[in-house]
Amino acid sequence: MLSLNPKTLSPSPFNPRSFLIPKKPSISSPSLYVNSTTCCQPNQITERGILFYTGDTFFRHESATGRDLGVLSAALYKQSKGQLRVLDAMCGCGIRSLRYLVESKADFVLANDANESHRRVILDNLAQVERLEGEKKRWVVTHCEANRILTDCYLQRDYFDYIDLDSFGSDSSFFLRAAFSSLKLDGLVYVTSTDGYSSGGHRPFHSLSAFGAYVRPMPYANELGLRILIGGAVREASVLGYRVTPLFSYYSYHGPVFRVLLRMNRGKLPEKRDYGFICYCNRCGNSQAVSWDELGQIRCPCNNSTKDAASLVVSGPLWTGPLHSGAYIMEMLNLAEQWGWVGKAAGTGLEKLLKRMLEESDPRLPFGYIKLDEVASRAQTNTPSISTIMSSLHKEGYAASRSHIAHNAIKTDCPMAGCIRIAKKIHGC
Ligand SMILES: C[S@@+](CC[C@H](N)C(=O)[O-])C[C@H]1O[C@@H](n2cnc3c(N)ncnc32)[C@H](O)[C@@H]1O
Ligand SMILES: [Zn+2]
Repeated sequence: MLSLNPKTLSPSPFNPRSFLIPKKPSISSPSLYVNSTTCCQPNQITERGILFYTGDTFFRHESATGRDLGVLSAALYKQSKGQLRVLDAMCGCGIRSLRYLVESKADFVLANDANESHRRVILDNLAQVERLEGEKKRWVVTHCEANRILTDCYLQRDYFDYIDLDSFGSDSSFFLRAAFSSLKLDGLVYVTSTDGYSSGGHRPFHSLSAFGAYVRPMPYANELGLRILIGGAVREASVLGYRVTPLFSYYSYHGPVFRVLLRMNRGKLPEKRDYGFICYCNRCGNSQAVSWDELGQIRCPCNNSTKDAASLVVSGPLWTGPLHSGAYIMEMLNLAEQWGWVGKAAGTGLEKLLKRMLEESDPRLPFGYIKLDEVASRAQTNTPSISTIMSSLHKEGYAASRSHIAHNAIKTDCPMAGCIRIAKKIHGC
């Protein structure tokens, strides 16, 4: 029999038939918010001071930062537009729905999970928020396959401001077109992939069918995971005459998990410089973006002849543009500060992440990152310290930042050859 409750991040596509058997209620009503951040009993959790139960649902404590980012962005939307209707298409125990209601001040949340056995837990968690505000419902719980609920909403012209797709593996591409159809213009989609095999270039034909991108192994695989997710969304949106742009992109090693917040508007495919191909040279370590009309002329500056073309690997099409909007990250940081989520007493995790995303938003920085171990191995030196090499790069006029994705790596507009020269200079070679 198929499992009703996936406990691991499964890359296999969703099977609607696996969600037909309802289970008995599993928990009693939870009490209201508490201040503690520790677990009080099995399956009872607090996150940002909000108490909830997880029951037998799929829940990962490690995804709290991803939920924080979602809640901040939904709150910013509410503040700027004065309204917020959220569709949480794969809500699990309903924690995001609850947080969108309580923290982002959503006017309405549709909390959906195909697994009907989660119903009791979701209802009990959401019961902390009055269901009715006058005549209007604040929240509703449904148990449909995500594409069905999204398509139903579209058919009823019931459009949402914010759609959260917290799916497994590379399934997100399966839901994106329906999500864009049921999203308001200028609305946001928060999309997830946990497909680390595709980003690693280990199954290029799978990534081709899921994201429309043929991916080869490259040193910045985890950034490629974000870029194929965005690229896939760009492609799906363009079919409907929409254009999407990423407001932030977040990689986390547990899972691994790739999350992107996209804003959707009417429009065409982005300019060729933002949606195209990426080429990496195994010989010299250099990377370059390749546009569609340059496909037949790919060469690396390290070799002018075509005979050494075997050293080149090409991935794409994927998103080659900025991973974040710097201005948007700044707004998130300000709100997080206002809420006491960053700053002295708040712990460093979220602050460090947002500040690093801000650094990565420098428009001079190209795609990818350079691992310092690769620089050291090519320079035949010890690995330079990240702060030393960054300050040398800045002194020479290059843009350079850390990467939120890889700790011992830098993003820079300096080619690999320049990094090698600088590493040698640092070590007096
Ligand atoms: C990663 S979990 C959700 C976790 C939750 N969003 C959180 O932050 O704790 C994914 C959920 O999606 C549900 N699911 C899987 N495939 C689905 C589909 N096609 N339609 C709707 N729900 C689905 C599963 O039952 C599971 O509860
Ligand atoms: Zn080369």
